[in-house]
Amino acid sequence: MNYAANSSACLERILKDLDMEGLTKKDATIFTRRLRTHFSALFEKYTHVYGHQYDCYFHLQKLVEILRDGVQKRKPALKRIDVERTKDPLWYRDESQVGMACYVDLMGPTLKDLHDKIPYYQALGVTYLHLMPLYDAPKGDSDGGYAVSDYRKVNPSLGTIKDLESLATALQKAGIDLVLDFVFNHTSDEHAWAKAALAGDEQYQNYYYLFDDRSIPDQYEHTLREIFPQVRRGSFTFNEHMDKWVWTTFNSFQWDLNYSNPEVFNAITSEMLFLANIGCAGLRLDALAFIWKAMGTNCENQDNAHVLIQAFNACLQIAAPSVVFKSEAIVHPDEVVKYIGKDECQLSYNPLLMALLWNSLATRKTRLLTRSMQKSFSISSDCAWVNYVRCHDDIGWTFDDAVAQELGINGHDHRFFLNQFYTGRFDGSFASGVPFAENPENGDCRVCGSLASLCGLEGALNANDEKGIDDAIQRMLLLYGITFSIGGIPLLYSSDELAKLNDYDYLNDPIKLHDARWVNRIAVTNSDTEFALSAERSALTLQEDASLRVFRGLQHMIDIRKTHGVFGNAQTHIEESGNDHCFAYSRKNSDGETMLVVCNFSEHAQVVDRGLLSDSNWHDLLTDASPSISDHGLLLQPFQQLWLSPTP
Ligand code: GLC
Ligand code: GLC
Repeated sequence: MNYAANSSACLERILKDLDMEGLTKKDATIFTRRLRTHFSALFEKYTHVYGHQYDCYFHLQKLVEILRDGVQKRKPALKRIDVERTKDPLWYRDESQVGMACYVDLMGPTLKDLHDKIPYYQALGVTYLHLMPLYDAPKGDSDGGYAVSDYRKVNPSLGTIKDLESLATALQKAGIDLVLDFVFNHTSDEHAWAKAALAGDEQYQNYYYLFDDRSIPDQYEHTLREIFPQVRRGSFTFNEHMDKWVWTTFNSFQWDLNYSNPEVFNAITSEMLFLANIGCAGLRLDALAFIWKAMGTNCENQDNAHVLIQAFNACLQIAAPSVVFKSEAIVHPDEVVKYIGKDECQLSYNPLLMALLWNSLATRKTRLLTRSMQKSFSISSDCAWVNYVRCHDDIGWTFDDAVAQELGINGHDHRFFLNQFYTGRFDGSFASGVPFAENPENGDCRVCGSLASLCGLEGALNANDEKGIDDAIQRMLLLYGITFSIGGIPLLYSSDELAKLNDYDYLNDPIKLHDARWVNRIAVTNSDTEFALSAERSALTLQEDASLRVFRGLQHMIDIRKTHGVFGNAQTHIEESGNDHCFAYSRKNSDGETMLVVCNFSEHAQVVDRGLLSDSNWHDLLTDASPSISDHGLLLQPFQQLWLSPTP
């Protein structure tokens, strides 16, 4: 098919009939111009997925009306941001960028309360605040908010859409962008679409994957991965009311949306634009790997999933162009990078770096980290990684078995070791983690736990072991230090910055009991933030002292990050450190600024070959001192990281 000719003929036809009365003249002009620029991409993607359906063009026309409505409802302040960001499209690669993710109820407890937390975010240099899903959701278990009943309504216990908008404005004034979740793989079973389906409405039954009996689900299940085997086996749930099986990849109350139906794409686009128009700078694409199903595959990372996300991206370019997408693909590294692209997701979590940082802490070895980053770190220069250490979820060991194999590491056995290590079952382990989603059949599991507990603080405090406490603090700063310096947006997970320990309260709550991820969803109270910000202190407990050392250590690194362009828009080169315990990388930007980072993952001092240093003289930005270099090489103290900048 000649896409260009067809798409422009199609657009002209749509424009001829399109009612733009509701738009101002200026908006109508801008909208038409953007359509002329981006419609061809949208057309290509949309017809790729839906072109074989007789009513494809009808739905495409409806989609353009949805985009028009999105433009009409976009507030003037947001339109100004659209213009500003088009002039600075790579803002997310700037050294000033620092993210934080938090739950409103655990930090607020309401949206209104978060206004008071702005000085705290500022003290940490946060420029991007991801508020975990805050939409209306079923009472009781809602998968931490990831079962959405209404995208246009804030969970009443947190506030209202108005509260959210006013918080977005206040944050914006403080130089902080809001990031929201776009939970588009599934809705809760209480969403209006699901309720209509439950009531027998066929149109809405087609919004989901429903089956009359087990025959088709059984065929699919041959090749599907089980995501939450601890709550329910398989990926389908029988609904007695409808007498049908529902596709539920995650919990039984999270119904997967049927994207083979163009009406679903359109309806969700409308919800997406509603979220964009609240005033967020980014949308986190939740569970995006699962949106396309194909018999005989694992129904993850299918080509059409990419095509659909590109189509959503084209919609944003037309209706809310300052908003960027962040990919949450916690899958094989080769698949993670496929979501990253200016026309797909500009930002992506970096689950490989995350998992391998933890691997290096456990093994004190950096070969797998080095080799994997050499293979997978480099992405398009107009996109950025979101580098994180912990989040609200479990840690899955998503490294590439082929890379491990080259190093003589058996992926399966090594994952078993890591699970044993981080759940504290391995002799000599420093970690206090909790197993998650154990599969009774194959023994697979993943790991939960807070940064501090996984780094050994919990065990060391219990044992009153001061050396253990020091080590744990060093480990936390080491991992975060890498996220601040390796390139991309570092994302703090709130409560990490205060080295909070696992919260075992979930064990007393029947709704949370089955989901160990609650152990790492930890409140940060007013007294915590006041404590962190107040300057004077005396008679600290060991735990308070550790908390403060981590907070200050992170602040210090963030301050340095923000004052050197080389932490921002620059190229990263993963170096061979020549020492099995050390990880090294260099950075260089277009102004010729360079930096060399060397990190020691062991509790013993290490020497790194001088070859890495070339002929320059170096200065460590973290200690503001010269590094210790002898004839043997560069000396690193236990867990030390050096951020070396050449001295002229
Ligand atoms: C994402 C979320 C996770 C949730 C799942 C289903 O992976 O991070 O918390 O359970 O999606 O929405
Ligand atoms: C699976 C999914 C990931 C999600 C996690 C939640 O690993 O791939 O997207 O975050 O489950 O536990």
